[in-house]
Amino acid sequence: MLLGGRLAVPIRRVPRLGWVSADPRIAREVLTDHRSFTLVAEGGVGHLWAQVLGEWVLDLFDGPGHLDLRTRARDLFTEATAARLVSGAWARRLAAARTDLASGAPVDAADLGRVLVGRMLASLLGLGDLDDRRARTLFATGERLAATALGSAADTTLTPAAVAGAKAIVDDLTRGVPDAWRDAPPETLLGRCRELGLGLRETTGLAALLMVAGTETAASAMARTVALLHDTGEQHRLLAEPARLPDAVREGLRVTTPAPVIGRSVRRDVTVAGRRLRAGERILLLTWTANTAPGGFDLDRPYLPDNRRLWFGAGRHLCLGAALAQAEVGAMLETMTAAGRPWTVQHRRPARRALIPTYRELSVRLT
Ligand code: HEM
Repeated sequence: MLLGGRLAVPIRRVPRLGWVSADPRIAREVLTDHRSFTLVAEGGVGHLWAQVLGEWVLDLFDGPGHLDLRTRARDLFTEATAARLVSGAWARRLAAARTDLASGAPVDAADLGRVLVGRMLASLLGLGDLDDRRARTLFATGERLAATALGSAADTTLTPAAVAGAKAIVDDLTRGVPDAWRDAPPETLLGRCRELGLGLRETTGLAALLMVAGTETAASAMARTVALLHDTGEQHRLLAEPARLPDAVREGLRVTTPAPVIGRSVRRDVTVAGRRLRAGERILLLTWTANTAPGGFDLDRPYLPDNRRLWFGAGRHLCLGAALAQAEVGAMLETMTAAGRPWTVQHRRPARRALIPTYRELSVRLT
């Protein structure tokens, strides 16, 4: 209800949750006002992850260490490196999917998305080339880690059991990082982290972050954009004009907004849209509601200055993997449209208890 309903007033206080806004301008104002809002205190993801990874992440997430990390990591995911990462980790698997589709076989686009993202994680974490089964397992592990955040909308203090569970997953997933950080060639992500001067601890923290931030978000956007193109009939226009692919990716990200809510903690008293927010309070920005208010998926939708790339956040925490996420969704759509034939959806099943709304199954077949 909270996500679906439009709020009559641009910002308001909701019992138990704190301040809530679904206004894109307010979201941007809050996300770019780093002096008044923080994500490392109670109410933000930094607070959550500090309990799992250790207090040192507070500096990495929002202190001087964050600026240093973002400065060093600036060229980690450019458009060019993202394209290289996608083709390196996915080319073979996507070629197989194209062959299946062209032969008229059904393909589960939701499962394919999870397998691809699992392969990307393996490549980012230096775990090598995985078959589908192991890629699914890796994806599910990343999902379990992200599930630590489930239920944190009202409270980002984790129970000791949740902390222990998440720590065990991080240790397990990042086991390969120390060796890869030392020995991996500079063209790999972990090798590049070393060359950029990131220490082992920062690299491990970053690897855990990428896993949490880039797993379900990307898989959800991929599968749901395939469904949206089908449901709106816009796939026919995309098939007729393949150059519209970037528009399809942008609309897919806007309409799905896989990070539907962004939380911040109020660092100092501040006035937003005429309301006085006090230090220590929390604010939830309903980005999905803000981004979908202008209307449904439409390849011709004009540029929306208020929403711009709000699906990737704004300000200094703007998604580090934005270029990679766009390349991932683009590669999925290229695969779907490669044969030049439209697809039908045979079965679909939503995922239950998912942190991010998505499909458990989305079986498609080219006509
Ligand atoms: C469609 C897919 C994705 C969406 C919608 C998305 C969205 C976001 C959003 C909204 C934030 C800001 C959170 C905040 O301000 O509290 C964020 C941060 C981040 N994202 Fe993404 N993301 C996606 C994919 C990825 C991928 C593929 C990666 C990397 C592999 C990634 C890495 C990160 C990192 C490291 C941050 C933290 C940046 C910082 O705090 O400086 N994301 N993402």
